[in-house]
Amino acid sequence: MEQTYIKDIGQHVGQTVELRGWLYNKRSSGKIQFLLVRDGTGVIQGVMLKNEVEPEVFEAAKELTQESSIIVRGSVRADERAPGGYELTITDLEVVQIADEYPITPKEHGVEFLMNHRHLWLRSQKQHAIMKIRHEIIRACRDFLDSRGFTQVDAPILINTAAEGTTTLFETDYFGEKAYLAQTGQLYMEAAAMAFGKVYCFGPTFRAEKSKTRRHLIEFWMLEPEMAYYTNDDNMRLQEELVSFIVQRVLENRRRELEIIERDTTKLEQVKAPFPRISYDEAIKLLQENGSDIEWGSDFGAPDETIIAENFDRPVFVYGYPAEIKAFYMQPDPNRPEVVLGSDLLAPEGYGEIIGGSERIHDYELLRQRIAEHNLPEEDYKWYLDLRKYGSVPHSGFGLGLERTVAWICGLPHVRETIPFARLLHRMYP
Ligand code: 4AD
Ligand code: MG
Repeated sequence: MEQTYIKDIGQHVGQTVELRGWLYNKRSSGKIQFLLVRDGTGVIQGVMLKNEVEPEVFEAAKELTQESSIIVRGSVRADERAPGGYELTITDLEVVQIADEYPITPKEHGVEFLMNHRHLWLRSQKQHAIMKIRHEIIRACRDFLDSRGFTQVDAPILINTAAEGTTTLFETDYFGEKAYLAQTGQLYMEAAAMAFGKVYCFGPTFRAEKSKTRRHLIEFWMLEPEMAYYTNDDNMRLQEELVSFIVQRVLENRRRELEIIERDTTKLEQVKAPFPRISYDEAIKLLQENGSDIEWGSDFGAPDETIIAENFDRPVFVYGYPAEIKAFYMQPDPNRPEVVLGSDLLAPEGYGEIIGGSERIHDYELLRQRIAEHNLPEEDYKWYLDLRKYGSVPHSGFGLGLERTVAWICGLPHVRETIPFARLLHRMYP
């Protein structure tokens, strides 16, 4: 018999179907057993009546433990009272494997315990919902950019240069030479933008950051669009349209999952472009008015970002940061060279920076000078400098941190639940 998936069960009312999955939970009362079956696409209650199945089938069902793998056959009934709206009257059961005593039970477990059992924890309803939302966000990113004429160009992961500071590089050996895991695909996207106009990469990036915060991962995924002839204004407009698109898409397609994780969606409904924009100078003033002793020239910490974002009902851009605290490749403001034509997008509800972006330096001499100022070896950046010799144009791009975006949209307190298998400071297992 062909396999039916629980998500499609509504199309099979009155029919006999075969479901292949796992036992999520079980209840019994003498002559009747209720088997909650999950198959990755949904959960359905199966009802098994003693006098309507073979005796050995009824006995086999009694032996089932939580997470045992099973194949069940039965007829589908619509039932308003059933969770999900349907119920299966089981006529046959095949046991694939009886599971050992399952470590994750409905009782509360600590975070360390759950992270140590991440390979199993992924099966839990809430974790499942978060991963479905993550997937929806990835799809939304691709659909948005693909429909606007972007070409995906993949960036390498093993590289020989630093782009986001030399302090967070993961070093590895490349046949006797030093190599690093990519902190960003940006520099390669700049080359690709000169070949294709509008491009993006989406892949894992790495930061050897010794920070143990709720928004830092050692390995995280970043979406990085790069556009030839875009100013930073064009860049910000693209970002706000992308983020609005993502949020509205999740609200449309993942209502059920948002309910499962008990996300209050009223704040998400407001996330529509355009987003407010404030300058770094204004942000500093705002922080000082709120009692902070921050001075012009300092970078924002997480609490600063929270205070800034609290003043707005949707994500807010902070633009015009001091060049001193930003990456070497950012284009200085021609009217005020001490600040850059770049911005961060801060998410509301305390989530802070989800995007960093800027216009890039397109002048050969200025870029050479910046590379020298940052003590980076010029010979490694020869190819990157070449881009400023052969038809250089103003261009811009940004990086959206996937996990921080998922954390915000899901309303999660920590990024560790936003990625299937988190790499954190002192955690590489499982
Ligand atoms: O601001 P960042 O460092 O920017 C870049 O890497 C640029 N080269 C991107 C570009 O313009 N193409 O990182 C971009 C985003 C941040 O806003 C944040 O959302 C996320 O990546 N991010 C992290 N997410 C999780 N854990 C970390 N350790 C992160 N570091 C950055
Ligand atoms: Mg940043």
